Amino acid sequence: MTAAAVECPYDIRSLNGDPNGLPLMITPRQDADARRLCVWIGTQHGWIAERLHRHGALLFRGFAVNDAATFERVARAIDDDLKNEYLGTSPRNGLTDYVFTASELPSFYPIPQHCEMSFVAQPPRRLFFCCLLPPAEGSGETPLADFRKVLRDLDPALVRRFEERGLRIVRNYSGPEGGGRFDLWKLKRWDEMFLTGDRAAVEAKCRAEGFEPTWTAGGGLRLVSTQPVTRTHPVTGERVWHNHVTTFHLSAAPGEYRRIYGLRPTLRNCFFWQVARVLSAVQRRTKPRDELAMHCTYGDGTEIRQADMEALRDAIWKHMIIIPWRRGDVVAIDNYAVSHGRLPYRGPREVAVCWA
Ligand SMILES: [Fe+2]
Repeated sequence: MTAAAVECPYDIRSLNGDPNGLPLMITPRQDADARRLCVWIGTQHGWIAERLHRHGALLFRGFAVNDAATFERVARAIDDDLKNEYLGTSPRNGLTDYVFTASELPSFYPIPQHCEMSFVAQPPRRLFFCCLLPPAEGSGETPLADFRKVLRDLDPALVRRFEERGLRIVRNYSGPEGGGRFDLWKLKRWDEMFLTGDRAAVEAKCRAEGFEPTWTAGGGLRLVSTQPVTRTHPVTGERVWHNHVTTFHLSAAPGEYRRIYGLRPTLRNCFFWQVARVLSAVQRRTKPRDELAMHCTYGDGTEIRQADMEALRDAIWKHMIIIPWRRGDVVAIDNYAVSHGRLPYRGPREVAVCWA
């Protein structure tokens, strides 16, 4: 079924010129009512699913989606199976039972491209963002990248090096007593992530997710997990680059800031790049690998070639689509095809997230 086959009250077009490109944008001709958008979505489930797979993401722009409850209704119209268990690293605040602030990480910190919770046993199928308060112009976008295209672009020898060994991820979480939520060299508290201070319950959850837990001195928790770097899309059967390597690797911050400085060559961005470069080098030289806040290696524990990390970031940045947020924008993402991240920003910004 195509949208044209039914009376469609909205304009539908692909951004960036490619008829199958990322994302497909849906805007009202006249009727910007979010409730009627939900009704329309309810009549178009097959079409929405097909377009999500084809384009990788849908952008609903110009509808009055100005609060978390309305955002949740729009997301539920697309997929009513929302989840609220979050085992990622970003600090988040709840806005409804199922809608959260996307990340409370400091605004200057870039979040590299990743597929949401790619390291858990069952990563979300779909991810939704909504802009409740746009950031200052030229900052704070949530770029998207088609990880199917990234995989196609990568040197097969690089992919083989990753595929043969997989990834090993180490994350060190602070304990209930320790650590600021916003210390970049410490992750949030483990009781905050697992929503319990009961160590036995945490260990049981770790077993279910395939994480190897170690309680560390000072009440912290180390999680070690492995994951493949690619997955097969559960519906389309396409192979997809699907992992957290550019997010968790120790070189993440300097690697991103270098490219952000290339995109936006300001003194501020140059400063953050140089600071991140130095801090990352200090961490590498002074801390054992497994005590870093986050890091990843090949599955056998050997370090990933620096040149491979750079080639990977180049491929991802080549495919990144950066669209300035507008208030009320809702983006629906096929999490098994398309990654997301966050560019640094200044001033207020409120972007909400939920997933199914
Ligand atoms: Fe994310």
